[in-house]
Amino acid sequence: MADLDGVKEAKNFHAGVPQKSEGFFLKGSNSLDWGMKNRLARIFNPQSGNTVMLAVDHGYFQGPTTGLERIDLDILPLVPYADTLMLTRGILRSIVPPSMTLPIVIRASGGSSILKELSNEEIAVAVEDSVRLNVSAMAVQVFIGGEYEKQSIHNMTRLIDQGIRAGIPTLAVTAVGTDMARDARYFRLATRICAELGAHYVKTYFIEEGFETVTSCCPVPIVIAGGKKLPELDALTMAYKAIQQGANGVDMGRNIFQSEAPKAMIQAVGAVVHRNETPEKAFQMYNDLKNQK
Ligand code: R5P
Repeated sequence: MADLDGVKEAKNFHAGVPQKSEGFFLKGSNSLDWGMKNRLARIFNPQSGNTVMLAVDHGYFQGPTTGLERIDLDILPLVPYADTLMLTRGILRSIVPPSMTLPIVIRASGGSSILKELSNEEIAVAVEDSVRLNVSAMAVQVFIGGEYEKQSIHNMTRLIDQGIRAGIPTLAVTAVGTDMARDARYFRLATRICAELGAHYVKTYFIEEGFETVTSCCPVPIVIAGGKKLPELDALTMAYKAIQQGANGVDMGRNIFQSEAPKAMIQAVGAVVHRNETPEKAFQMYNDLKNQK
């Protein structure tokens, strides 16, 4: 039985102090439920509003990509410098220690390899498994203009519905066919469709002309993929321009893990994304850290 003797009288009511009702820091996310917001606040740093997602999910359609042959040896050492790890459940269960507390974005679509039509995907992870894996978001590929456009959009909307039931946000990844124009008009179309249909944030590519129009008319946060390996200064410049033009972070893979010094590179990217460091200063930082080896 509870001990009721000597119970202190409650008195700190602060009756004159209105309870704070904070708006949520992330674009377009204020009306989401608590669990969704909490998961997004693990992915996006609430101080800077931005994220460095380390993308290592490439194996789901292209096998052991250069730099990802041994995720245990070459990627796990980068984890302390990332805000989020984006990967498949196979790699998560087989290689990543559960004691690692970094938020996970799970690759939740798949179904075709580089040998076939890539847009022919399905949902590849049940939402129950995402819950079991304690992920912070689920990523689905969307092929606007692709051969299986409707199917990929339907994958996204089903995943969003399942995620809403579980309180897990969905990241829509806009995939561009090799024969399609990568311009502002296309990316406005692709990102806006994903957001209109309920994606909680969208991944797309940076473009030199008109990227700010892509971010400004997308009502939820945008992160950029790194794309093919570039010289380090060029990759840092791309990340810098994207952040200055309204992106809320990067979901970067090859430009980090294929760098000559991945640990130095991810820290330099972090300086650009979280502290608005200029590409030149971040590149200097990269070289300094690289030479400390
Ligand atoms: C590609 O479909 C994968 O989802 C990657 O996560 C994405 O492309 C980002 O990686 P990268 O920076 O290497 O382009």
